[in-house]
Amino acid sequence: MAAYDTDTSPARFLTFEGGEGVGKSTQVKRLAARLGDLGVSVVRSREPGGTPKAEAVRSFILQGKPESWGVGAEAVLFAAARLDHVNELIAPALASGKWVLCDRFADSTRVYQGLTGGVEEGLIDALEALALNGHVPDLTIILDMDPENAFERVRRRAMEDGMPALADRFEKEDLDFHRRLRAGFLAIAAKNPDRCVVLSADMDEDALAEEIWRVVRERFPELETEDQPA
Ligand code: TMP
Repeated sequence: MAAYDTDTSPARFLTFEGGEGVGKSTQVKRLAARLGDLGVSVVRSREPGGTPKAEAVRSFILQGKPESWGVGAEAVLFAAARLDHVNELIAPALASGKWVLCDRFADSTRVYQGLTGGVEEGLIDALEALALNGHVPDLTIILDMDPENAFERVRRRAMEDGMPALADRFEKEDLDFHRRLRAGFLAIAAKNPDRCVVLSADMDEDALAEEIWRVVRERFPELETEDQPA
């Protein structure tokens, strides 16, 4: 049934972006599984992280250690992690014909450290050029949700999983911060209409997975095979 021809079809680089609690990780997994069913070789990754060095930066950053260094240094750290991730994982995977699906990428730096954190655009541009080294995503799916609904979702999930601490991520920052994140991602989408697609994440997981699949098939017609009609 795997009719997708990995020899003749180009490798693709897809990123998922959005605020907290919008369901990116779940959707990355679901899309990877669906592509895999078609015979596409897929590498799933995330940022910050994806390689041992970048994961080390992740744990340093997410433990809040660079807070005293300031947001500019934090942007540099995210970029350093990204540079390793691109060089060691993303670029080699694409070169060997694999699709790469990444949970967050450079747009997160632009929104969290740049538009929301106040790091000036020139520095964000320079860090992005350095870290990406030309590896601009073919498609960025921005999952958009009202932060109040996202907060409810995070809290519900945390309670179900017996991990109330997860809800802390929201409580640490006020709702206004999350609204600014949302506006930041929407601004990036408006500026990059060829690369970005905004989807409402305010629907159930199955419906959103279908929506994403529709967008991906539309964007990459090479996925249409006789075995897997639209
Ligand atoms: P996540 O794995 O749940 O998405 O968490 C990663 C956190 O790091 C999230 O709060 C967003 C933040 N982040 C940035 O601030 N800048 C970045 O460049 C990236 C990739 C993530």
